[in-house]
Amino acid sequence: MRVLSLISLLPLGSLAAVLATSSPDFTQPPIANVSNYPNGSLFYHWRPRAHFIHPSNQLGDPTAFWQAPDGTSHITALYSFLRGTGNASLSTSAFSGSTTKDFVQYEDLSGWQNPVQMGPGNEVDYIADFDGSVVASGYKGLPTLIWTAVKGLPISWTIPYVDGYESQGLAYSQNQGKTWIKLDGGANVPVIPRPPYKGGVVTGFRDPYIFRNAQFDSLLNVSSGEPMHYVTLSSGLHPAQPGLPGVSFEQAGPRVWLYKQSEPGNWLNWTFAGPLLRSTINDTFVTKGSGWAATDYSDGNNYECSQITNLDFDGDSSYEGTGLAYASYGAESNHTLMLYRLGHWDENAGIETTPVNASLADGVVGAKQGVEMQTALEGVLDWGLAYACTGLRDGASSPARRIVYCWIKEAFATQDATKFVTQYISSLTLPRELYVKRVDGVVNDELVRENASWAILDPSSSSNITTIPLTQFAGSTAANRSTVDLVMLGIKPAAELSAFRTNANDSYHHPALTLQPQDFNDNASCIASLNPELRTITAGDNATLIHELFIPLPRHPSSRHYELSTTITFPLSSLRNDTADFAAGISLLRTPQSSSTSEDVAVVYQPRNESVIVQKRTALGASSVLTTPEVGKLRLWNTTAGLEKLHLRLFVDGSALEVYINDRFVLTTRAYYWFADATRVGFVYQMPHNSTMRGEEWKVKFENTTWWEGLTEAYPNRPTDKEELIKQAMGYPEPENNPNAAGIIYNGTGPSPPFPNLG
Ligand SMILES: *[C@@H]1O[C@H](CO)[C@@H](O)[C@H](O)[C@H]1NC(C)=O
Ligand SMILES: *[C@@H]1O[C@H](CO)[C@@H](O)[C@H](O)[C@H]1NC(C)=O
Ligand SMILES: *[C@@H]1O[C@H](CO)[C@@H](O)[C@H](O)[C@H]1NC(C)=O
Ligand SMILES: *[C@@H]1O[C@H](CO)[C@@H](O)[C@H](O)[C@H]1NC(C)=O
Ligand SMILES: *[C@@H]1O[C@H](CO)[C@@H](O)[C@H](O)[C@H]1NC(C)=O
Ligand SMILES: *[C@@H]1O[C@H](CO)[C@@H](O)[C@H](O)[C@H]1NC(C)=O
Ligand SMILES: *[C@@H]1O[C@H](CO)[C@@H](O)[C@H](O)[C@H]1NC(C)=O
Ligand SMILES: *[C@@H]1O[C@H](CO)[C@@H](O)[C@H](O)[C@H]1NC(C)=O
Ligand SMILES: *[C@@H]1O[C@H](CO)[C@@H](O)[C@H](O)[C@H]1NC(C)=O
Ligand SMILES: *[C@@H]1O[C@H](CO)[C@@H](O)[C@H](O)[C@H]1NC(C)=O
Ligand SMILES: *[C@@H]1O[C@H](CO)[C@@H](O)[C@H](O)[C@H]1NC(C)=O
Ligand SMILES: *[C@@H]1O[C@H](CO)[C@@H](O)[C@H](O)[C@H]1NC(C)=O
Repeated sequence: MRVLSLISLLPLGSLAAVLATSSPDFTQPPIANVSNYPNGSLFYHWRPRAHFIHPSNQLGDPTAFWQAPDGTSHITALYSFLRGTGNASLSTSAFSGSTTKDFVQYEDLSGWQNPVQMGPGNEVDYIADFDGSVVASGYKGLPTLIWTAVKGLPISWTIPYVDGYESQGLAYSQNQGKTWIKLDGGANVPVIPRPPYKGGVVTGFRDPYIFRNAQFDSLLNVSSGEPMHYVTLSSGLHPAQPGLPGVSFEQAGPRVWLYKQSEPGNWLNWTFAGPLLRSTINDTFVTKGSGWAATDYSDGNNYECSQITNLDFDGDSSYEGTGLAYASYGAESNHTLMLYRLGHWDENAGIETTPVNASLADGVVGAKQGVEMQTALEGVLDWGLAYACTGLRDGASSPARRIVYCWIKEAFATQDATKFVTQYISSLTLPRELYVKRVDGVVNDELVRENASWAILDPSSSSNITTIPLTQFAGSTAANRSTVDLVMLGIKPAAELSAFRTNANDSYHHPALTLQPQDFNDNASCIASLNPELRTITAGDNATLIHELFIPLPRHPSSRHYELSTTITFPLSSLRNDTADFAAGISLLRTPQSSSTSEDVAVVYQPRNESVIVQKRTALGASSVLTTPEVGKLRLWNTTAGLEKLHLRLFVDGSALEVYINDRFVLTTRAYYWFADATRVGFVYQMPHNSTMRGEEWKVKFENTTWWEGLTEAYPNRPTDKEELIKQAMGYPEPENNPNAAGIIYNGTGPSPPFPNLG
């Protein structure tokens, strides 16, 4: 075996001055600060091919998804314009999107050059438009949007709140969602004008989510006939502090509020029905210290982007009212994350639960009955950079599915400077299917008995799926069994993404391979024919040195657009065992062995602490991009069928890297590779630097490893020339030919109009 010398990964900053004004050369190390390359010079280098990217080039939250009766799905995102010219400002705040019939390819609404659906500037929303949601048949039987109309900024959970800065407006479409017409031509007539409690006690009040739910109807005695629609709003309550409004500390914290139509079919009058989901500040449902919701304070201070439905083993069961209650939410804290809960809907006393010190705002009509979630489990919807995850009930498939996209933020050290170098920022994730996943026959020991991101299925559970709360487990019929069945949130790439495999322009399958610490020995002959490489590297944050064995695949994709899947078997005794100090997985985006400089990104599982880690040893260092490793937590269950294997599916699409494991774990991140030849792929086994661990005990097996190169062009009808894609100027115009354009009172230039009286 050849043992490589220790490769230096120290920053290459000394080269910076020389290259500062020239275009990137991907055969040479990068300059220290990527922001100093010419504008547009990195347009193609990291641009995804199969991901939703906005024609405005500056994309925000996915929003306002809906499905037309013919099965066409509308995938929209907030946008702003990269350069803020003309009547465009730099904050994300208008709507534009595409349609898709297969969740693989998209058609820009009204064409790629000006696909504006709705922008701000009218009386109701003169500063900005934030997230909304759509029903296919609402106001006057038309597609109807309820969205957050913004009349004041800044808004943040960290500062006092001004009631009315965010209100919920209504718009409808007479052209199947191509453009939205605001109620009364954009007059200041929001359908939910203010937070339920007055005096600036909330931390936010936005992201209305419209839904139907048979279980809510049954709990609230809604009789059949025209369907009742519900709306949730994402919010929170400030704790009172000297000089600042708020509620008692015990009652403060993030909230999802429930509203219902005053009567089915009435889209203009919404009744406040109290909290649907509440948490105390900086708290979490899961057992403290367990990490299943990332941190012990994950629920944070304010919820955003909440979505509500029911899920069963197939997908979305909200119209049936069966399965489990589901809520997802962005939880704002100093580590803002996208979380979810599964549980059971229960009736509650509506606004009888009014917090102390808070009084209902004038004109708010409160319901005496509401629905509240009883949480069975909580988890992280995406452990990486993805946020604002937004779902769609795909009723065109049978049974109905739940399709979700999230926003993938960029991870530049200086985003505002680097975005001109790429001339676009962000994309959405690939579409994911959400459902209730079960893992049967799990050994009934203390490992299952945590408040965590799974729950124990009641053996008498029916189509309604009932789980046993931990507090009731000891007395339950399940307690004495040797195994239990678990339920958890299932998350997998949408089935349609199999197109990436069938349409691949190249693919490769690798035979099974076993790696173990013994292979680090110079005389390990069994893998000698596989061109093993040994090196000492950093764990990604250059804090910890590790020793790595790499086995390259004999053939690797020639581009950075591919899917890779592999199945890894870990020894049962290595799980949660400090003695088993190793990690194993896949290294990708890796330079050739002969390179004088090296880079790679590795996705590994560390059984000792049940962590999935994405290590980024890219040539671009911390002054250009975030290089901190991304970490998520995944438990492999010991079942009557043996220990679960780790089924890894990776999607590399330019800088977008999505890691899916065992249909229940997702981590999305950015991998800013540099070198043109950083395309190698292979297996890695890592141990601490100078580890003396040897022997066959910690053997890891890789099976069924395949990659499929090419992916699918998401926008077959857009030009590919970057000049054309960069130099379109959609700004924030209100779409032409609808009444919104006539009522503009502010175009983003100069001082904004005075904030109107709340009335
Ligand atoms: C890059 O584009 C930005 C925004 O248009 C502009 O302010 C900046 O001057 C440009 N930089 C160069 C070097 O042209
Ligand atoms: C925006 O409004 C300002 C002041 O009302 C006006 O001077 C300016 O021309 C307008 N800009 C555009 C692009 O309409
Ligand atoms: C399931 O829940 C619904 C209410 O949503 C109820 O009407 C029905 O009886 C339940 N079914 C079973 C089998 O428990
Ligand atoms: C809205 O509905 C409530 C009943 O839920 C009613 O009391 C109120 O008058 C209605 N408001 C308007 C403006 O119609
Ligand atoms: C909750 O956590 C945030 C940081 O995420 C902090 O700013 C805030 O002060 C905390 N709130 C309380 C009441 O401790
Ligand atoms: C803020 O984040 C740090 C980690 O960066 C964490 O240790 C701390 O507890 C957080 N503070 C609060 C109040 O949540
Ligand atoms: C890695 O080390 C270099 C040099 O010590 C330092 O400048 C850089 O910030 C470090 N990166 C991280 C992510 O800690
Ligand atoms: C950890 O590994 C050691 C060495 O194989 C073994 O003796 C021990 O039983 C393991 N511990 C657990 C908790 O599996
Ligand atoms: C990188 O360069 C940009 C543009 O000159 C500058 O704004 C930014 O502060 C620099 N970033 C770092 C980390 O030095
Ligand atoms: C793993 O599961 C098997 C089969 O149920 C069981 O025999 C074995 O004791 C379990 N091992 C551990 C460590 O739980
Ligand atoms: C650990 O490895 C370094 C080289 O990377 C070597 O200098 C050092 O002597 C080693 N330490 C031990 C205890 O083997
Ligand atoms: C091998 O992987 C492919 C693609 O992920 C999968 O369809 C197939 O079921 C796997 N086969 C086995 C034996 O695991």
